[in-house]
Amino acid sequence: MINMRKAAIIGCGFVGATTAFSLMHQGLFTELVLIDTDQKKAEGEAMDLSHGRPYVDTARIYAGTYDDITDCSLIIITAGANQKPNETRLDLVHKNVAILKSIIPEITKRGCEGLLLIVSNPVDILTYAAFRLSGFPSSRVFGSGTVLDSARFRYLLSEHLKVDTESIHAFIIGEHGDSELAVWSGTNVAGIPIHDFCEFRGHYHHTEAMEAIYHRVKNSAYDIIDRKGATYYGIAMAVSHITESIIRNKNSILPISSLLTGQYGIRDLYLSIPTIVNRGGAQQPLEIPLSGQEHLALTKSAKTLKEVIASLDL
Ligand code: 2OP
Repeated sequence: MINMRKAAIIGCGFVGATTAFSLMHQGLFTELVLIDTDQKKAEGEAMDLSHGRPYVDTARIYAGTYDDITDCSLIIITAGANQKPNETRLDLVHKNVAILKSIIPEITKRGCEGLLLIVSNPVDILTYAAFRLSGFPSSRVFGSGTVLDSARFRYLLSEHLKVDTESIHAFIIGEHGDSELAVWSGTNVAGIPIHDFCEFRGHYHHTEAMEAIYHRVKNSAYDIIDRKGATYYGIAMAVSHITESIIRNKNSILPISSLLTGQYGIRDLYLSIPTIVNRGGAQQPLEIPLSGQEHLALTKSAKTLKEVIASLDL
């Protein structure tokens, strides 16, 4: 029997622990289970987080084992190596697929009926691996995708245009990684096409500005890792945002990593495109309008991921 108010986080490194911290403040769960191969680390994080319980609306958070996850409605997987300076997300694939191969059977053999939200990188490929290894329907297996990248995109646009991020509609799609692309053709501010709004704000050098903003989004992780060694606050808040649409059954449209079944002519591949997210997980991945150039870039992104997947033993 699924407990909609219970979730598990597998992996208590920077991202997992910060995700737990973020979820505690959201008050979506009455029970959060932390699992890590380093049991003491999981215990330490649970103890530290528990001391804030008088101030937040999350009942219990504890270090558990796989036996505690059977009734979880959501299992968030953050376990795995993270990028070192100048390392790409794709460089992590073999190491992190091996870790995933040790995790997924622990979930499936306990008959868990919850959703799997993959966060570890390279997230699109690992989500595909989790889908294949678990045998779960694709609606129950999805990744954090480019939700964080799209948040970075909206933030940088909001700074550039001096408008609230809430009024900016913009997506980064494709690989959560170096081949991702900005859907400029659909970007708008309160329905005003982006270039028109830029000119309203006195910006006329569109090509240079678009390149600069896209470059900063795409390289955000490298720039942060170069300064502080890892990223974890942004991704934790992105995961919390995805989780809220699940637990509150909001039907938000989020660029999570979803299984494409023919959208843009791409199939049998997890890629980050806007998808309806609700209590049932990843529902309908949407084929949003793209310019010819954007479609080409998405096809290239898909090709990059397919080449890596072909090298894996899934
Ligand atoms: C990020 O984009 C490293 O994928 C992580 O912050």
